[in-house]
Amino acid sequence: MIDAARDLIGASERIVAFSGAGLSAESGVPTFRDAETQGFWTNYDAAKLATPEGFANDPELVYKWYTDRRRNMAAVQPNPAHLSLARRRDIVNVTQNIDDLLHRAGAVRIIQLHGTLMTDRCLAECGYEEPVEMADPPGLRACPQCGALLRPAVVWFGEPLPFNAWREAEDLCASCDLMLVIGTAAEVYPAAGLIGLAKRAGAKIIVINPNPSQASALADIELVGKAGALMPDLMAV
Ligand code: APR
Repeated sequence: MIDAARDLIGASERIVAFSGAGLSAESGVPTFRDAETQGFWTNYDAAKLATPEGFANDPELVYKWYTDRRRNMAAVQPNPAHLSLARRRDIVNVTQNIDDLLHRAGAVRIIQLHGTLMTDRCLAECGYEEPVEMADPPGLRACPQCGALLRPAVVWFGEPLPFNAWREAEDLCASCDLMLVIGTAAEVYPAAGLIGLAKRAGAKIIVINPNPSQASALADIELVGKAGALMPDLMAV
């Protein structure tokens, strides 16, 4: 299987790597839905922590949760899957992840569909935003421009994806000839819909995941295993 996948990569010109939390799992970042590894949503209430209503109801609680995640992110390192993607400057990374591990691995083409933990922005959308020091994140505070609260620049449930990022990702996925689907359950839309979009446009789909997922049915090749273990060998074309 991995030889056939490697041949497909070697024969492809426009490759998109569509990734999810599983890409960062071996770095020590919990996924969201993996029961066996205590994914976030098995321990925490997404409605309380990852919705605009949750933030409005208890901004201190929500902001503290993201502060803890920022510190945890700063304490971990990119794994071999991030590094092997970063070595391929031609591959575009379309990721659901809000961490900075692809950036720290040196990847240059990264589209973050669900926002980023590296920035705070104004809750009232006055346009103000500022970078955040992940290792020493600030506390909850007011926007210096309009006085509203600052919030993590991530996409919460029920919120639209960043317009430009989504448009660019749609265009890339509709014109790629190969999509690597790495470490996602492919259950959260509209992001998961990009796999079907690429498939309908004629792209080949290679799925990398130790478990079956919603992407399995769309796979031309399904590599069952961990991304950090498989990707270096797979990308060694
Ligand atoms: N390598 C590859 N895949 C892995 C690994 C690994 N080491 N470990 C776990 N996985 C797989 C799991 O089998 C699962 O299919 O990664 C997937 C993680 O799925 P989720 O936890 O559902 O994460 P994801 O698909 O990225 O979630 C999408 O949901 O909660 C929201 O906004 C959040 O971006 C997130 C979105």
